[in-house]
Amino acid sequence: MSLMKALNNEAREVLNRNWRDGFSIPCEKLYPFQWHWDSGFIAIGFAHFDMPKAEQEIKTLLDAQWGNGFIPHIVFHNESDTYFPGPEFHCAELHPQSSKKHKSTGLTQPPVTGFVLEEMFKISKDKKGTLKFIKSVIDKVYDNHNYFYTKRDPQNEGLVYIYHNWESGIDNSPLWDDIFNNMESPSYEFERRDTTHVDASQRPSHREYEHYLHILEIAKAHNYNDDKIAELSPFLVQDPLFNTILLKSNQSLIDLYRLIGNNENKIKQLEEWQEKAISSFNKKLFDEELGAYVHYDLRNETTLRHVSSSSFSPLFANIPSKERTLVLVQTMMDKFGKENYYLCASFDPESERFNPKKYWRGPVWVNLNWILYNGLNQNGFHDIAQRVKADIIELIEKNGFYEYFDPRKEISNSGYGGYNFSWSAALVIDLLSKE
Ligand code: DGY
Repeated sequence: MSLMKALNNEAREVLNRNWRDGFSIPCEKLYPFQWHWDSGFIAIGFAHFDMPKAEQEIKTLLDAQWGNGFIPHIVFHNESDTYFPGPEFHCAELHPQSSKKHKSTGLTQPPVTGFVLEEMFKISKDKKGTLKFIKSVIDKVYDNHNYFYTKRDPQNEGLVYIYHNWESGIDNSPLWDDIFNNMESPSYEFERRDTTHVDASQRPSHREYEHYLHILEIAKAHNYNDDKIAELSPFLVQDPLFNTILLKSNQSLIDLYRLIGNNENKIKQLEEWQEKAISSFNKKLFDEELGAYVHYDLRNETTLRHVSSSSFSPLFANIPSKERTLVLVQTMMDKFGKENYYLCASFDPESERFNPKKYWRGPVWVNLNWILYNGLNQNGFHDIAQRVKADIIELIEKNGFYEYFDPRKEISNSGYGGYNFSWSAALVIDLLSKE
């Protein structure tokens, strides 16, 4: 059996092992529930060999949607004492429209579901059957986008905010240091669980967790009311990765509604959101001097001027112009593409905040590589896309299906965080199926 075939089989085993009753966990112990963007990436993996599971994964996630269209970042289907903070800390039931059926958080995560449905359709060998499934869930995804544009865009720019670093998906990125350094969060007594499963040097610090809890306490004090959060949350950021994913999903919804037919009003609304968003995105979130997209801190009305792998993600939703695309790829190769580094570190390796071992402060992540691989290919940068793919496959072959990897090539044991991590397996299956 070829090496690639063996890797594919192993990846399928990881996914099957992490499958529970109707959904997948990201990995044992460290993440024992259903996570929003994990589920989306996992469904892409399953779509290659077990479409019913892919469909069930998405159905179960959407089953936890709130009355206002919001989709939570964790759905607590089961009890577990290996994770903090659990449902009794988050108290999502404080929100009057939260799910009555499922316990969840009152935070969301990058809205991947729209483009995941399109990926599933592309992969499917039974297009009619898959389209039927898509038809049964697509309005829920539309309602989610409607929630974002009506509730999370206070200045009506077409750019939505996140109110917590956990919503970004890139939990402890050095980007947030600028915000946390100005926050006076109280100290809390709590027992971390993540650091009993994974070396603390690879996870966020205790002080960072105090900030995370503090932002949540403020949202809870206002029953997760969006207007109050927009007014009071110390963390309020327009994130290029989050907005790219929303835009990519908008486009997928447009394309899928066209296939389904009879949805002109929704298509029109999606196109309006799309047009406004792309224009604001390019005006507000591009830093000419850095040659990269950056985050905007809406609370303090200031740009967070750092380059991260998120800076290049807009390629995935075809947001930059041709000229800007060239600048962006040049910045990526100059800063992140050195010979002795795997592509693509999650944070600027030239920054003093870069840490090659610590979660989102530097390591390479499979999902970001998958986004960049697709974005580069869509824009004609096939050679660099191949490198992004080859690098991640080499890291997994060398180390196994870890959650994240040290970008430095001279390090031999460079897999960190959770082991047998679902999206690492799922997206490798997808990458291996592509040229
Ligand atoms: C964690 O617990 O580290 C998760 O990323 C939060 O969603």
